[in-house]
Amino acid sequence: MQFQAQNIHQNADLMPVLSQKTIEYHYGKHHCGYARTLNALVENTEFAGRTLEEIILQSRGVDQKIFNNAAQLFNHDFYWRCLKIHSERPIGKLRKLVEAQFASFEEFEDQYITYANTMFGSGWSWLVLENGRLAFFNSQNAETPVGTHRSAICVIDLWEHAYYIDYYNDRALYISRIIKECINWKFCESQLDACASYVTLA
Ligand SMILES: [Fe+2]
Repeated sequence: MQFQAQNIHQNADLMPVLSQKTIEYHYGKHHCGYARTLNALVENTEFAGRTLEEIILQSRGVDQKIFNNAAQLFNHDFYWRCLKIHSERPIGKLRKLVEAQFASFEEFEDQYITYANTMFGSGWSWLVLENGRLAFFNSQNAETPVGTHRSAICVIDLWEHAYYIDYYNDRALYISRIIKECINWKFCESQLDACASYVTLA
């Protein structure tokens, strides 16, 4: 099975938060690169023919190169799905869970922004479901919640290539604008729904 980088966004889909140039470089040079490298690495190995999730699980701690490329492919596929310009805030289960744990939706957004800003170096800032509750989780480099006790609900790419063309070194502004203006809460809610069968909602 040949893996392909999945990006639902084209052209000016995410303007004005992310430019077309950022999407082209991020998707074309970085995201597609992980798919190409992974396909080459797994060819004629025990990982050939496995799903992406299986490869992440089975290569973690065993083959760092394969893990990094598989996890980066998953993380990027997930990241693009988390983005949508002028998305409406959630009204269902996710809203209920946010309001059970935070004073307001604005307070939740502010805490996510503050937490994401604590990330040092390259990586990802996740909203996850952990033990039935929402939690923030920053992962270094390619690390991913796949195959762990955490279920991914939302993610922000914090590698420099995600924001440098549009924001230069102002990562804080990128984080703030993504969370306030560009999260696809409907997609995030669908990820929570997928977990709902085996967790107790607060
Ligand atoms: Fe990236």
